[in-house]
Amino acid sequence: NLAALLPIVKAAPVVPVLIIDDVKTAVPLARALVAGGLTALEVTLRTPDALECIRAIKGEVEGANVGAGTILTPKQFDEAVAAGSTFLVSPGISPKLLAHAAGSPVPLLPGIATAGEAMWLLEEGYGAAKFFPAEQAGGAPYLKALASPLPGLMFCPTGGVSLKNASTYLALKNVVCVGGSWVAPAAAVAAGDWAAITTLAAEAAALKAA
Ligand code: 3PG
Repeated sequence: NLAALLPIVKAAPVVPVLIIDDVKTAVPLARALVAGGLTALEVTLRTPDALECIRAIKGEVEGANVGAGTILTPKQFDEAVAAGSTFLVSPGISPKLLAHAAGSPVPLLPGIATAGEAMWLLEEGYGAAKFFPAEQAGGAPYLKALASPLPGLMFCPTGGVSLKNASTYLALKNVVCVGGSWVAPAAAVAAGDWAAITTLAAEAAALKAA
């Protein structure tokens, strides 16, 4: 998955994790994030309109690379691909999901939090994973400790990551990007404060990847 994912996740140091309640906000939200320099957008399948949001962003937002998050099943995987997702993200791994992903040209960024799961992914040929939930599972010191024994796996830590701690993760040699919802606060989205979101995105885009 690394070759297909790298150009997408390395385009910016932060991948916004989006929970979009109202499909009408999807396009302006995506435009605001892209304007700030964040181009890979993860729309989580946690709201009824998530697939419609992916279709709308795919069709209308130039420069956006829209992916789907919270993929738990092969059915969701297929629906997200059909909606136009260019990458998929799961919170964890399962035999069924990995078997399904192996047959798809659209890359999966699977979530893991242990060395055993990392070994499982390496056996499956993966080169990149999401580290989830990053802060709760042990944070940057934990992820740093995985780098030496598991040099073949790069991570996108997500979960509890913010502007304050993102740099600590990005400084690790096994981190390609971080993910987080902080760049799209629910209140700003509800208020249609797209300028505020562009500012948050620009701050995030200015963080340095190692
Ligand atoms: C998630 O899946 O909810 C992401 O990890 C986002 O976590 P965050 O809201 O802590 O950034």
